[in-house]
Amino acid sequence: MLNFEFYNPTRIIFGENTIARLDELVPAQAKVLVVYGGNSAKAFGTIGEVTKALGQRKYVEFGGVEANPDYLTLLKAVDAIKEHELDYILAVGGGSVIDGVKFIAAASQFAGEDKWAILEGAPISQALPFGVVLTIPATGSEMNSGAVISYRERGLKRSFASPLVFPKFSILDPSKTLTLPERQTMNGVVDSFVHIVEQYATKQTGAAVTDEFAEGLLRVLLQVGPELKANPNSVQARSDLMWAATNALNGLLRLGEVGDWSVHAIGHQLTALYGIDHARTLAIVLPGVWQYKLEAKQAKLAQMARKVFGLEGDDERELALATIAKTEEFFHSLGVGTRLSDYDLDVQAVVAVVANLEKIGATALGEDKDIDLVASTKILTSRL
Ligand code: NZQ
Ligand code: ZN
Repeated sequence: MLNFEFYNPTRIIFGENTIARLDELVPAQAKVLVVYGGNSAKAFGTIGEVTKALGQRKYVEFGGVEANPDYLTLLKAVDAIKEHELDYILAVGGGSVIDGVKFIAAASQFAGEDKWAILEGAPISQALPFGVVLTIPATGSEMNSGAVISYRERGLKRSFASPLVFPKFSILDPSKTLTLPERQTMNGVVDSFVHIVEQYATKQTGAAVTDEFAEGLLRVLLQVGPELKANPNSVQARSDLMWAATNALNGLLRLGEVGDWSVHAIGHQLTALYGIDHARTLAIVLPGVWQYKLEAKQAKLAQMARKVFGLEGDDERELALATIAKTEEFFHSLGVGTRLSDYDLDVQAVVAVVANLEKIGATALGEDKDIDLVASTKILTSRL
């Protein structure tokens, strides 16, 4: 097992009817920017519940954060903070709103004129405090310190991370996810699944505790995905998905392990260029990365075949291949396409994604840093 350090200060409040707890969680004197997405949080009454819980506190609403939050929209929120002299932020939504808020929190305190520099690695030394009301389980952003921001005008999607942008708290009310369209629920299952395997399906480091956590969470997802497809109103299954998604990317699963993250790096460029839902880009790329790295990942993929899919056998390579096939089958059963052609893309997309990877310097990806541009081309070509 590799050495590690673990730090996660986010307070989690899990359960139905917990939004009223905002009154104790948000400081009494706070002046709050309430940030939400397109329309769902407003239309389904969550914003109403949130503003009611804020009571006498001063607040300003900022709606319209896109799925895959756009840099230019977020700059308007930074302006709103300055204009109204606000000092606290509430994110009401999913990964897009939460990531957007992480950026707003950092950018509003960032001295440089060009705030995009934050996405290019410029250090941040301060950020406004913020809390979260989660409405879609998928990204784990509610309990981690990373954010992914799109810049549509430039066709880019990039990430940043800082311990300064851990949420102070996150309210996880599974009943708030009952209004999700099936497509978004299934995206959440797939994104969580891929977060787990990007940290697990790499090398055998002997991190037995973390491996068991990962395998258990994967089994939960294999169960709740089909359950929610058949019965989207099950609060029990919604609860399990919500907590699984949070644990999939709150730092626990990287402890003692080696991360891959090439699937995300390549997938982000498919979203940047073609607007494909984040989770769906992962479903396309993952089987390609696993095939390409079959030898290096064989031991872990075979372990996954045994511990997650319950398969038996002595042939490690056969078991690893079975994991790839079973995973793709699982995504298909959720209605998620795993080929570029499922999204009407052809070889032009391969060329464009690889050009983007070059532009942002993503030329040595994966746990062995050996996925260069030629490898990315091969991986994407295998997914046509
Ligand atoms: O915009 P509205 O109208 O609110 O609709 C949203 C949105 O269209 C809808 N939705 C959310 N909650 C709902 C609901 N509809 C009905 N009922 C509800 N309760 O769902 C749509 C998708 O929301 P979004 O926030 O975009 O989804 P998700 O949570 O999957 O976030 C995706 C973003 O997070 C980034 C992705 O790259 C992408 O930009 N990620 C962030 C990570 C992180 N910070 O750690 C890691 C991930 O790998 C990922 O990259
Ligand atoms: Zn993801």
